[in-house]
Amino acid sequence: MATAVPTTHPAPRGTCPFAPPPAYQQARQDEPVSRVALWDGSPSWLVTRHQDARDLLADPRLSADATRPGFPFLSAAARHIGAGKASFIRMDDPEHHRLRRMLTGDFTIRRTAALRPAIQQVADDLFTTMTTGRTGADLVAEFALPLPSLVICLLLGVPYRDHEFFQRCSRTLLRRDSPIEQVVTAQQELTDYLDALTDRKRTEPDDAILSRLVARGELTTEEIGAMGRLLLIAGHETTANMTALSVLALLQHPDQLAHLRAHPEATPAAVEELLRWLSIVQSGVTRVAVEDIEIGGVLIRAGEGVICQLNTANRDEDRYPDGDALDLTRDTRRHLAFGFGVHQCLGQPLARLELEIALDTVLRRLPGLRLAVPFEEIRFRHEMTVYGIDSLPVTW
Ligand code: HEM
Repeated sequence: MATAVPTTHPAPRGTCPFAPPPAYQQARQDEPVSRVALWDGSPSWLVTRHQDARDLLADPRLSADATRPGFPFLSAAARHIGAGKASFIRMDDPEHHRLRRMLTGDFTIRRTAALRPAIQQVADDLFTTMTTGRTGADLVAEFALPLPSLVICLLLGVPYRDHEFFQRCSRTLLRRDSPIEQVVTAQQELTDYLDALTDRKRTEPDDAILSRLVARGELTTEEIGAMGRLLLIAGHETTANMTALSVLALLQHPDQLAHLRAHPEATPAAVEELLRWLSIVQSGVTRVAVEDIEIGGVLIRAGEGVICQLNTANRDEDRYPDGDALDLTRDTRRHLAFGFGVHQCLGQPLARLELEIALDTVLRRLPGLRLAVPFEEIRFRHEMTVYGIDSLPVTW
């Protein structure tokens, strides 16, 4: 029996925990721009094809401003966050550009490449602690999460000793089913924390990003705090989950793992394919139309919500033949795992480098790496806007 096109978003995944919900795959074929209801019953358009998603994300007739009427929130938590003081991910140009450009220099490919020895050192230290005298560990807790977390703290000038606090806050903010009072508290605590830290940088500057933003003298404490909050959350949850899911996916695809181990030079290409195949921003990216737009045979009217579903777009057979297969040798160009258009991920050079180093370190130095529990016991984060796993018990 054919799966029906979805009527609610997010739809449940099917039997393969790596694959997008079957109803979305069906929608891509039958009704590529379809109408869905969100958690509160409000309507939105769901865009499932690669070319449509790419065209829309580059279209200035769509706004990322969550204070505009009709903006599609994916949860009560997202609506609360959207109503608060926005960081530039929820702004349109020219304001978005004014703020983003203050950080582009920190995340260029060249600047990021210069961090390789420092990031490799962090990975080596974590690896040594995790493996010395031991035959197994939770790869998320001991490696995949602390690696990007330590790195983003270093870049921002945030003390890593506070990681339990801000990791707890960001988990609450990224959960679709967080009780609203917990979201309010987490948002406030994180805002207060970053505002206080920013103020401290005024009297005790270092050479990291927060201090440099302060030194520009163009931004208020609140504006810098909001940027710090965005970078702190975006900077570790995403890469941590990508690392853990990538290792798990490779363990489940021994032929692909063997290819990667035999061809160390293929790691950057492997990272791109894993980004495409896993597309961890699982509920898509959200926008609202500010003018009428015709796409995929439908008319999206001004004021209507639009969700570009990255995981189905990235498996679109028209762009990626046999798109459901994990194939580390395929041409992955133009994948949308980092989004597209003016809001395309600022941290992508860093994410790529961290993933490369993480996979190289773990897979090459642990040739006997395997799961310590049956695959069926791994719990996937269906309730989070960033997909992944909270724990990955492995042995070697
Ligand atoms: C934006 C994915 C890692 C910082 C985005 C967007 C996506 C994304 C899909 C676009 C959101 C939208 O259009 O609404 C990812 C994935 C990552 C990752 C899959 C890791 C595998 C990082 C890292 C950082 C970061 C490491 C920080 C250092 C940001 C920022 C934005 C963003 C600041 C907002 C850009 C803007 O609005 O101009 N990311 N990201 N991300 N990401 Fe990432």
